[in-house]
Amino acid sequence: MRNLEWKATMKYNFDAKINRQGTNSLKWEFTHSQSILHPWEQTEQCFEENPILPMWVADMDFACPRPVIEALHERVEQGVFGYTVPSESYYDAVVQWMKRRHQWDIRPEWICTTPGVVPAIYMLVRTFVAPGEKVLIQPPVYHPFFGAIKYNKAELVTNPLVYDNKSYRMNFKDLEEKAKDPKVKMAILCSPHNPVGRVWSEEELRRFGEICLNNNVLVVSDEIHGDLIYPGHQFIPFTSIDDDFAKNTIVCTAPSKTFNLAGLQVSNLIIANEQIYMPFDLTLRSNGLHFLNTFGVTALEAAYNAGEEWLNQVIKYIEGNFLYLEKYISQHIPLIDVIKPEGTYLVWLDCRELEMNQWELKELMLENAKIYTDNGFIFGAEGEGFERLNIACPRSILVEALKRMKAAIDQLK
Ligand SMILES: Cc1ncc(COP(=O)(O)O)c(C=O)c1O
Repeated sequence: MRNLEWKATMKYNFDAKINRQGTNSLKWEFTHSQSILHPWEQTEQCFEENPILPMWVADMDFACPRPVIEALHERVEQGVFGYTVPSESYYDAVVQWMKRRHQWDIRPEWICTTPGVVPAIYMLVRTFVAPGEKVLIQPPVYHPFFGAIKYNKAELVTNPLVYDNKSYRMNFKDLEEKAKDPKVKMAILCSPHNPVGRVWSEEELRRFGEICLNNNVLVVSDEIHGDLIYPGHQFIPFTSIDDDFAKNTIVCTAPSKTFNLAGLQVSNLIIANEQIYMPFDLTLRSNGLHFLNTFGVTALEAAYNAGEEWLNQVIKYIEGNFLYLEKYISQHIPLIDVIKPEGTYLVWLDCRELEMNQWELKELMLENAKIYTDNGFIFGAEGEGFERLNIACPRSILVEALKRMKAAIDQLK
């Protein structure tokens, strides 16, 4: 790869609005009803015509780091897009990133490439949990976890988070009870947690890990948001805490949330235990999924090797968005409580004081405010009355969305 270093110091303009129409963007050009996606033309960038602002699915409206774009250009120019196998430099980029960013030492042979974290979690459940056995999750939580359990004919066990004073914590007493059930074979940890934005402390992770270990519950730690952490908080990779946790865990990582590369479908599982690695690898192969997307490989290397400055800048920008939102809502929409995220660009809003059922709330956001949010109930029953707002967008879009939210809520009076 060419020398990309000079670009690592450039200043990015996250205020720029990028027209995503005509790119088959899930966020901007599709909607879903009953889990089926439909093309949709109601979103637009020009506010005047009052189209809907999409603030839902977790991708950013920002261009990815310049070194990634340059590397992809170079790859495209070469013109041949045959099957691609990650080389040593790919594994090295992942190892170095984890070391530099998280002081986490991993070995190249622990890395198992997958075409996305969601398909990986589906296959992990299929590999390690027989139909009728149980998987534990902590709702309100990332909704595909429910699908991974259901579609693999496993049974769902919930260990709901406790919501207290605008913050969430784990319920360890309940976890201990539920983990004792010998049918519970797997627990999926969302770390940092989507949608509530918690960055779990070492003590919380340790207690979670010990309970799982003591009860022979295999841990899947989904750490896809682990690079998006606000100042003042520290993300701790789950298996970096204890070698015994590492032997009992599959960690899911990816550059996709971090650098806005979701469409390139590249992710890495970190599996330090060969007894876990081998059966999962067999599942991957039995599904014919052992190759990666050519562009994903190029983008990952460029992002991990030269994207850090962009990441630092984007976190600052998103933090600025959050501070704007927090102040605006406390001044103008006091019926909504903002749960302060410690990580992720997703903001969890407690709208229960509006005293609306989930359908009324959905209608309020989409039809009245004309903002496409993720409705809290999709994250489990514990999410009813909440809304998830994606704030990884130019400030002007956020400003407009909040104005609309206020106007729609004012009209209720
Ligand atoms: C917790 C979590 N895991 C996984 C994903 C998606 O992973 P992928 O796009 O690699 O399938 C998301 C996307 O929002 C997420 O929030």
